[in-house]
Amino acid sequence: MSSTLLWSDSLALGLDVMDDTHREFIALLKQVDQAAELDLLASWQRVVDHAQDHFDREDRWMRSTGFSSSNCHTMQHQVVLQVMREVAVQVQQSKDSAMLRDMSQQLGQWFLHHAQSMDAALALHLRSAGFDPLTGIVNLPEALPADAIHGCGSSVCSPTAQAVAGATAEADVMR
Ligand SMILES: [Fe+2]
Ligand SMILES: [Fe+2]
Repeated sequence: MSSTLLWSDSLALGLDVMDDTHREFIALLKQVDQAAELDLLASWQRVVDHAQDHFDREDRWMRSTGFSSSNCHTMQHQVVLQVMREVAVQVQQSKDSAMLRDMSQQLGQWFLHHAQSMDAALALHLRSAGFDPLTGIVNLPEALPADAIHGCGSSVCSPTAQAVAGATAEADVMR
């Protein structure tokens, strides 16, 4: 099955570093899609490594612009990365490459939704704070909220999800 995930300008979020990373992510997923059986796991590992860098960078941007460390965007990154790693281990043991090819398709679908919701909200937030991704400088700190942000600011982030993230953060602090 071939992936239908392609970069298009509709995915651009107006933050060059983020857009470049997203372009690379899509290109690496395409390589998984087109990989021969022998190269499949190595190809997948390149996506995992890239996703680790990609998600870590966004998480760092969030932490330096007022997000709590347990905000729902960061949590989603952690869960997805964990699933990606687990699938690699399972496929290594079972040699069931169809599982990996299916996972790659699902990851592409997940990414489209994630980029257009959570990442789009983050890009908007960073731009409004005058954040420079290259230096990490927040040029408009007065635009940041006084309290830690627990939600991701996107339409997928319901008040319930924000409340749960907030309660989890409070519980962590009390431990
Ligand atoms: Fe992203
Ligand atoms: Fe993200």
